[in-house]
Amino acid sequence: MIALLWRAQEQSGGWLPEPAIRAVADMLGMAYIRVLEVATFYTMFNLEPVGRHYVQLCGTTPCMLRGANELKEVCRRVIGPSDHVSADGALGWTEVECLGACANAPMVQINFDYYEDLDPANFEHLL
Ligand code: FES
Repeated sequence: MIALLWRAQEQSGGWLPEPAIRAVADMLGMAYIRVLEVATFYTMFNLEPVGRHYVQLCGTTPCMLRGANELKEVCRRVIGPSDHVSADGALGWTEVECLGACANAPMVQINFDYYEDLDPANFEHLL
């Protein structure tokens, strides 16, 4: 189920619309609610659009101590509020827990790529 949801999310522009969740349930012969339960449990699945470039900003302690809060301010200024997509559909961002790159904090994941050793200036240039 998770592999199919992941593929459906890839094919749906980075998020899972309800028809995609229903299609996965139909493929597996399962009740829709069972698939919805899994899709809502794992944070890897997005139930709303996230933008073409989805920024997941680590705010856990090592990244916070190395400047994640300043990166969040860049996100708010350049993209807008968290968990919303910019007006042109290009960017969205959310805060996440540790992504396992603490040695090079602060960092973000944008779609499938990691960007590490960030500061407000190079992060804004990246965005
Ligand atoms: Fe940010 Fe681990 S705390 S990657």
